[in-house]
Amino acid sequence: MTPPPETVSQSASLDARRAALAALVKVLDRRETLDDALGTAPGFRALEGRDRAFARLLVMTALRRQGELDSLIASALDKPLAKSARAIRHVLALGICQLLMLGTPPHAAVDTSVRLAAGIAGGRFKGLVNAVLRRMGREGADRLAALDGPRLNTPDWLWVLCEKAYGADAARAIASAHGQEPPLDLTLRDGIEAGTWIERLTGAGIEAGNPVSGTLRLRNAGRIEALPGFAAGAWWVQDAAAALPVRVMSAGDATTLRGKRVLDLCAAPGGKTLQLVAAGARVTAVDRSADRLKRVAANLARLGLSAELIAADGRDFEAPTPFDFVLLDAPCSATGTIRRHPDLPHIKGAEDAKRMCPLQDQLLARAADLTAPGGTLVYTVCSLDPAESADRVAQFLGARDDFRRSAVDAEACGIDPDWLTPEGDLRTLPFHLGDRGGMDGFFAAVFKRNLAAL
Ligand SMILES: C[S@@+](CC[C@H](N)C(=O)[O-])C[C@H]1O[C@@H](n2cnc3c(N)ncnc32)[C@H](O)[C@@H]1O
Repeated sequence: MTPPPETVSQSASLDARRAALAALVKVLDRRETLDDALGTAPGFRALEGRDRAFARLLVMTALRRQGELDSLIASALDKPLAKSARAIRHVLALGICQLLMLGTPPHAAVDTSVRLAAGIAGGRFKGLVNAVLRRMGREGADRLAALDGPRLNTPDWLWVLCEKAYGADAARAIASAHGQEPPLDLTLRDGIEAGTWIERLTGAGIEAGNPVSGTLRLRNAGRIEALPGFAAGAWWVQDAAAALPVRVMSAGDATTLRGKRVLDLCAAPGGKTLQLVAAGARVTAVDRSADRLKRVAANLARLGLSAELIAADGRDFEAPTPFDFVLLDAPCSATGTIRRHPDLPHIKGAEDAKRMCPLQDQLLARAADLTAPGGTLVYTVCSLDPAESADRVAQFLGARDDFRRSAVDAEACGIDPDWLTPEGDLRTLPFHLGDRGGMDGFFAAVFKRNLAAL
């Protein structure tokens, strides 16, 4: 079983903290994604399991709680740090994070932070780091409790977007959900009723709760590859919300997909492809990125499933005959996945979503042409932004009178009616299922093509 963070952080090495610092610099100062930053952070790959988990948790917490950390740092300094001392800001942030948020013993948090500071600017700030962290050890918990975390940790552009789209209370609830460490969600190849996976995982010391909306939910799971069932291909990692678009495509009855020709137009890394193939569909999976398609191939191979994989731009993709079902999981700003990607608020802005809209429209138009008369088309995005979701649907329905919206039937799909818009589209938000770990923000609309089309 993976030990709790405070136990891990007690024994975590200076190298783990050094890797976290390097990754934080890359994300916040160079706007690299966290995955890229960790992949290239000196020493991260060389870390052993526990150290690696701690480095990841540390940098993710520092990103999730950046606003609170900045506020605490400012409150402990007589004057702001010079711009040239930016790396010291990050050392302080990681130190405070350990002290107040991860339960690291104070001596370990302070000592390792001072040692990190020793390698910056000739060690000039060692005394300052030591003094600030000792003060935080004494006063920090009270100061932290007095802060408005959700607001401070959310950049203005994201707060305004959520408030405008969902109202003030929901914006606050979304921001709170973004501050939580999400569980690990698994979709079972043979369905949630199959086998005894909860017992097996619990037996291996993993916290496996009751299924959430058809998904198996784990806490403190540790290394994914080491979990029971990984090698046997019994499941794949997929957020509970990400599993819903395929569910609404089949109107809650996976057997409707059996033997059907299904096109997955933006398929990688393949979570939804796997669902479709596991349901017995004959799937053509297209993605512009040949590299990302390799992950689909690897996932299929591990699961013992197969599909036709094609590297192509979905806008030009042609097929000799149209498909019974078409899924367009369009590229988007991914603001619905901030719980799992806390770097996004820091490296994206309001304009990123707007920039994707023309591509989304073009892909949707092509996906529509590839849908057979009488067939079903699903448009989905993991975005919180109506510009990428409801607005694209309105644009599409305005342009195509051969398609009509098919409202999602919550009961048939086994989903909470609160997750539907008044028009009948799926709209999950990060605070949904909040008492059970939340879920990603997904949107999905289902369209039927008229039989008389063509
Ligand atoms: C949201 S992800 C898809 C996630 C995937 N459906 C899943 O469930 O794992 C979007 C994908 O669209 C692909 N993409 C972006 N532009 C594309 C295009 N013009 N044609 C085809 N694929 C594209 C990206 O490479 C990326 O893999």
